[in-house]
Amino acid sequence: MLFHIRATRMDMCFEMAKLVMDRLRNVCTVVDEVHGFKYFDDRDLIGFVDGTENPENAAACEAAIIGDEDPAFKGGSYVITQKYFHDLDAWNTLPIEMQEKIIGRRKLSNVELDDKTKPAYAHNALNVVTRNGKQVDILRDNMPFGEAGKGEFGTYFIGYARSPSVTEEMLHNMFVGKPEGNYDRLLDYSRPVTGTLFFVPSADYLDDIDA
Ligand code: HEM
Repeated sequence: MLFHIRATRMDMCFEMAKLVMDRLRNVCTVVDEVHGFKYFDDRDLIGFVDGTENPENAAACEAAIIGDEDPAFKGGSYVITQKYFHDLDAWNTLPIEMQEKIIGRRKLSNVELDDKTKPAYAHNALNVVTRNGKQVDILRDNMPFGEAGKGEFGTYFIGYARSPSVTEEMLHNMFVGKPEGNYDRLLDYSRPVTGTLFFVPSADYLDDIDA
């Protein structure tokens, strides 16, 4: 099970986690617990604004919520999570221009690189997935996390989609490359240590389960 607990206040998140654990402590084993935080203007720890191209409002629902294509699970979603550690020392030795090519956006202004400047391996080029000629989105909620004292710097990738095949295609493009070998250079500086797909039941679906 995954509990994605979010609020603007850390105490609210902590209290929710505590209430969940009060119910589950005796019947489950905690595999991992990650406390993410907001970093400057929604930046990740590699210093880039993260989430800019996220769909909003109706487009977010269209991207993330299962619809009539699967009536039994309508209103639910699929979420893929991956815990990444960054080699920040190595990343920070890269010239900013190179970092910008890897992400596909300007670091300070967050402006997207134009098509002439953006390499085919840019993160935001490899993560464009189309179906029937139309771009299909996922809804991301990446969270920076880490412990400065330990030199641990990470991004907890969280991507919701109405079909996991979209996120899986993005992962394929990033890791295998598109075309093969044209992989995401962000991975030279970021190492995933977990990766899991979860089904997200709707509230109605949970209500209908006979306890
Ligand atoms: C180390 C982990 C990751 C970091 C630090 C990261 C960071 C970023 C940043 C800075 C952007 C540009 C701003 C934005 O539009 O949000 C971006 C875009 C994006 N990322 Fe990631 N990302 C990570 C992993 C992933 C993974 C694993 C996926 C998918 C499986 C993904 C999918 C996307 C998508 C779909 C976009 C928007 C592309 C567009 O349409 O412009 N990211 N990411």
